[in-house]
Amino acid sequence: MLALSPESHSAMAKRPLVGIVMGSDSDLPVMELAARALRRFGVPFELKICSAHRSLRATLDYIRKAEARGIKVVIAGAGGAAHLAGVIAGQTSLPVIGVPLASSSLQGLDALLSVAQMPGGVPVATMAIGEAGARNAGIMAARILALSDEALRRKLGSFTEALASEVEEKDRTLQKRRP
Ligand code: RP5
Repeated sequence: MLALSPESHSAMAKRPLVGIVMGSDSDLPVMELAARALRRFGVPFELKICSAHRSLRATLDYIRKAEARGIKVVIAGAGGAAHLAGVIAGQTSLPVIGVPLASSSLQGLDALLSVAQMPGGVPVATMAIGEAGARNAGIMAARILALSDEALRRKLGSFTEALASEVEEKDRTLQKRRP
């Protein structure tokens, strides 16, 4: 279950700036998309499994030490009654990006509401449910870090341009096929 790509291990070897936290190892296949996005931009990250319900002590311990260890952004993914991102956001002033995961019979709608419906004063930047949300969480973390990193900002700019080029290429292919 904890199989990671070699590139992920390399980005993890540097001093992490982003903590990717998830409630269970069953969340890893989706949350690895956040790791992949960060790796693409060369942003060092770490992965952590801790649960707001099953291992609250470990969760609190992790988040209370995170800032002093150099973590700048936390990504938290969980499914079901997904309280992980909210609990973390309540214990730190670091930006927290929440990823609702579709791991229950409600297909992530429960997690979406749990992550998004935070009380005033405790913000969680909530992404889409599942894979798109995990990928966007990595990109969002990179955008936050790019506010003080010009090289990273340039990489993000190239990425955005590449996305547009891909769509334009798809359209060119479609136009060629038209009768
Ligand atoms: C949540 O419960 C986890 O984030 C996971 O999405 C879900 C199911 O966990 P497992 O029963 O697979 O460990 O806390």
